[in-house]
Amino acid sequence: MEGYDYAKCIEISKRARWDIDKDVIRGREFDLSQKFLPDGLSKVDQLDFLSGEERKFLSQIQSRTYANMFGFVERFIVAKILEITRGHWLGDQVALEALVRFCDEELKHQELFRRIEPMLAVRMPEGYRFLHQPDAVAAAVLQKCTWAVLALILEIELFTQEHYRQSIEPDESLSPLFKDIFFFHMKEETTHALMDELEWALEDKKLTSTERDRAIDELIELVAAVDGILQAQSKADVDYFLKVRSPQLGKGEIDRIRDGVLKAYRWQYIFSGTELPRFRTVLGSLITEAQGKRINNALELIR
Ligand SMILES: [Fe+2]
Ligand SMILES: [Fe+2]
Repeated sequence: MEGYDYAKCIEISKRARWDIDKDVIRGREFDLSQKFLPDGLSKVDQLDFLSGEERKFLSQIQSRTYANMFGFVERFIVAKILEITRGHWLGDQVALEALVRFCDEELKHQELFRRIEPMLAVRMPEGYRFLHQPDAVAAAVLQKCTWAVLALILEIELFTQEHYRQSIEPDESLSPLFKDIFFFHMKEETTHALMDELEWALEDKKLTSTERDRAIDELIELVAAVDGILQAQSKADVDYFLKVRSPQLGKGEIDRIRDGVLKAYRWQYIFSGTELPRFRTVLGSLITEAQGKRINNALELIR
C-alpha cells in the first residue's frame, strides 16, 4: 500500500500492542451455547437439512480448527520473516525493528492460539483431532523460495483482516470472547501485510525472469499443499461431527456435509485471500499476464 513504510509500521505496532490475558481473554471461558465462527466463513447455513443445534456444533468444530490453523501457519511465518531480517541486519535498522516486532507479535499470536485449543477441548466432546504438526509443515514450506512463501504469507495476512471486518465484526450473535480474539489478532495483522508487500517487492527485484517463473510454480505447489491439508482436516472434522452427533442422515446428506465443509475451508484459507483486490493488485504488479493465467488455472482446479 502506498505511503506506508517500516517507520509507520513501528508506529502502528506500538499503538496496537495488546496482552493475551489483560486485553483478550480477561479470565473468560468459552460458552458452547454461543456461535463462534460466522456463517459467512463456516457456510453451515447452506446445510439446511441439519437442525440449528447441529449446524452450531459443526461451526464450533470449524472454529476450533480455525484457531488451530492460525497457530499452525504462524510457525512458518515467523521462521520466514526472521530469515528475511538478515537482509537488514547491517542496513536499515528501522526496517529491522519493524520486522522484529512482526516476529514478536506472531510468537504471541501462536501462544494465544495454543491457549484456545485446551479452552475449547474441555468444553467439547472427546475425539477432535488437528492432524498436522506445525514444525513438519513449516519445514516443508520453507523448502520453497522466499518469493513464493511471501506470496502465501501476504495472502494469509490479508484474509485474516478481511474475515474479521467482513464476517466476524458485523455478526452480533457471536461469542464475545471469540470476537475479541480475532479483533485483537486482526489489529496486529495490519502492519504484517504492509511489511509482506514491502519485502515481497524487494525479493522480486532480486529474481531473474526465469527464477520468477520457477517461483510461480512453487507458489502453485504451496497452494496445492495447503489444499491437501484442508482436504484431510475437513474430513477429520466431519468424521468427528458425525461420530459425536450421529444424526440420522442418508449418504447424500453426509456427502453434502463433507463437500460443504471442504468448500468452506477452501473459502477460508484460499479463495477469500486470492480473490482480494489488494492481493490481486500486488501479485499482478510482479507477474506477466500469462503467469497470472497459470495461477488462475491452478486455482480453478481446486475450486
Ligand atoms: Fe498472527
Ligand atoms: Fe501476521
